[in-house]
Amino acid sequence: MAEKLFPKGYQPIHQVSEKEDVRNQLLTTILSDHSKEKEAKLDTDIFDVMSRRRSTRKFESKAIEEWKIEKILAAADTAPTAGNFQGFEIFHVKDTKMKEKLVGAANKQPYVNAPLVLIYCKNPSRVKLNFSKKMLTKFAIQDATLAAAYSQLAATALGLSSIWIGMIDEEKVAKIIGTKLVPSSILCIGYPTKQKLPKSRRNLSELIHVLEPKKIAKITKKKV
Ligand SMILES: Cc1cc2nc3c(=O)[nH]c(=O)nc-3n(C[C@H](O)[C@H](O)[C@H](O)COP(=O)(O)O)c2cc1C
Repeated sequence: MAEKLFPKGYQPIHQVSEKEDVRNQLLTTILSDHSKEKEAKLDTDIFDVMSRRRSTRKFESKAIEEWKIEKILAAADTAPTAGNFQGFEIFHVKDTKMKEKLVGAANKQPYVNAPLVLIYCKNPSRVKLNFSKKMLTKFAIQDATLAAAYSQLAATALGLSSIWIGMIDEEKVAKIIGTKLVPSSILCIGYPTKQKLPKSRRNLSELIHVLEPKKIAKITKKKV
């Protein structure tokens, strides 16, 4: 059964349930097993993770533990998708030569050659909704983006750092990894050489635009 569930070369650490809803069983098993995080004394509180996350472009060469990779991939699979059609695919690049080529397809950004390289691609053909092609593509890019964002947060929770690569030549990336799908982003993950403080943001008062109910609406509702 495992061959049906996992790509070639990928063997989950967790025991796969024989029950019907196997994919969810596996997801739940991977995500609810906190033994290793506890052992490593990781702070996985979601708000701490969000406030700690910082893009990193320098990684140690140290390989990432399989259990962490598994969690990062599972986290992506928990993201919401349009109609739950999961209009995206993830390519886990293990080939070093391929990683080197990807640097060239990403405006020569050297850190793309990171210990863990995941490419999130749009797959609008999975989105079986009765909308225009343009809308389905829009859904697929949102699906792929959300999945990558979930992975990025999971990576932070696991004591890793990452860099989101959006500056890519989509055609070149697709050619390198051998897909007809359009890549959306590359997530490069590793152990940071230095722990940096999070970057500043604008004030929330500038970011949030509160739209109060219009006074006129209140007046018209009143009985004359
Ligand atoms: C859509 C998008 C595209 C990005 N593309 C790149 C990129 O190609 N190269 C890079 O070094 N960083 C890239 N970044 C990372 C941003 O530069 C980084 O998130 C930003 O400076 C904020 O820093 P922080 O992530 O530490 O908060 C990208 C981020 C996003 C969300």
